[in-house]
Parts: sequence; C-alpha cells; structure tokens
Amino acid sequence: MRHYLDTADLSASETQQLIELGMDIVKNKDKYADICARKKLATLFFEPSTRTRLSFEAAMLELGGSVIGFSEANSSSTSKGESVSDTVKVVSGYADIIAMRHPIEGAPRVASYKSNVPVINAGDGGHSHPTQTLTDLFTIYREKGSLDNLTIGLCGDLKFGRTTHSLIKAMCRYSNVRFALISPKELAVPDYIKTDYLDAGTTQYAEFDRPDAIMPELDILYMTRIQRERFFSEDEYLKHKDAFVLNLEKLRGAKKDLTIMHPLPRVNEIATEVDSDPRAKYFEQTLNGKYIRMALIITLLRLAGTIE
Ligand code: CP
Repeated sequence: MRHYLDTADLSASETQQLIELGMDIVKNKDKYADICARKKLATLFFEPSTRTRLSFEAAMLELGGSVIGFSEANSSSTSKGESVSDTVKVVSGYADIIAMRHPIEGAPRVASYKSNVPVINAGDGGHSHPTQTLTDLFTIYREKGSLDNLTIGLCGDLKFGRTTHSLIKAMCRYSNVRFALISPKELAVPDYIKTDYLDAGTTQYAEFDRPDAIMPELDILYMTRIQRERFFSEDEYLKHKDAFVLNLEKLRGAKKDLTIMHPLPRVNEIATEVDSDPRAKYFEQTLNGKYIRMALIITLLRLAGTIE
C-alpha cells in the first residue's frame, strides 16, 4: 500500500508525473469528472484547517467521489480516549483513501501502519506538510516552467513552519537551487534540516536576518506566518510576531518576475496592498492546491488498484 506521508514518498520522477497530471486536470477537467465515482475520501482533521481540508474535499467531489470525516478532534471519539491507530483502522473500512492532519509529529505515519487504504499526511505538528509542498512545487512549475535554476527566499518562522521544511526537502532534489533562509535567529531552520538535506547535497544556502540585501536576487519569495500555536510562551510569540512584514516599499528592487508565495493563512506578514501586485501568487497557490490534490488522489487510488 502506497501512502503519502513525506515528500520523499514520491521520487522526483513520480512527482513530475503528478505535476503533469495536475496540468492535464487544469486543461481537461471534464476528463476526470467521474474518475472517482462511488469512491470515498475521509478527512480526519485533528487540527484546524481551511485550505487543506476544503481543497481535499473539493478535489474528491470534482473527481466524482464523495467525502466523510471530521474537522476537529472533539467531534470524534478521540475525545473519549480512542487512539489514532484504532480510529484509522475503523475509518479505513469506511473510506477508500484518508487525509489526516494531527498535531503530533509522526501521527499519520503511525496511522498508516493500521490502514487498509492510502493515508495522506495533511500536516503533522511542526514536522511536515507534504501536500502543501506539492501545491508549492506545482505553483512554482506553473509560474516558472521548471523547478531547476531558482533562487528561493524562505522568510518568517523557519523553525516551526513545517511547509518550509517540506519545501526544502523537495527542492534539494532539483538542479542549481539556492536558498536564502530569512528569519530571526531564534526561528532559524532546525539543524536536522541543514545536516540531512541542505548540507547533504549540492544545494547552496545562506542565512539572513533581513531580506533587503538578497531581495534583488530572488526568483521566489516564500513568506510564512509566525506559528503562534507552537510557541511555549505568548511573550516569545509577541517578540517575533512582526519580525518581517512585506509591503510594496520592500519589494522595490525585487525582480519584475518574482513570484511571491505564502501557504496561508496570513496574519500580517504580507500587507494587503501587495495582493494586487501581479507578482503576488498566493491566492493562485491555494487553487493549485486543489488541482494537485486531485492528481494525488487519482495517483494513490490507481496505485492501490481502487480505480483504473
Ligand atoms: N496552508 C494550509 O495548510 O492552510 P490550512 O491550515 O488552512 O489548511
């Protein structure tokens, strides 16, 4: 059974096939309208979500399938003490594929050991968010036509921001990618990401506490919010919450074809005046999330032999 728990669960060539399937879905939506007829997706969300859960649900509905699930732990029997493993064992009898978000790192992997159907990690604690990464790769590919030869600025909370961890892991597989890691020192990329991914290959990177100097070199600026829910104290959060706010003034000197991305939700790290700048692609990014999740559902159900 193939699950999708980490970006490494699909090889670079499988990821490329997924991106190409996503491109075909964008162009030929009708072709896929019934491909998941009579199949069910279960969305088990133990943590809040707008984009990930609803884009998964929209994806399955647009593929002709249906959706069951819950959007908070309190509305499931987890509140009575049921384990994640038992929950998933039960739900895998009701659904053909499961998307799970959980606050505990590794919970979707534990769930996958008990599941009879593919499990997708829809975000686990501060660890990883691989379908956001597929969304990001798809967006970069649609904007730039390639995933090679890019200088990418990651800006904000790079310690707790699981989307940036997954994106680094994924982009390290492409040629001539350079990362500018822009964050307060206390919110820098964890050491394991540096040793296991950035230092392990040929990817170049440098750390900055402000984006100004590197801004003119960036092809992609990937903004992230400061992850309030993962701080141990409110004072620590307040100290960093306005570490960097992108506005039009700060974009002076940036490339004309810069792509500005953000996994959303935004708090105040991008001023709303930036939304109308043609370089702002974060709302297109959310729509791309639906298309690439459609491609992922089709791919995993095909691998499981559930659909043709
Ligand atoms: N980008 C993202 O994961 O958003 P949600 O938390 O709303 O799902």
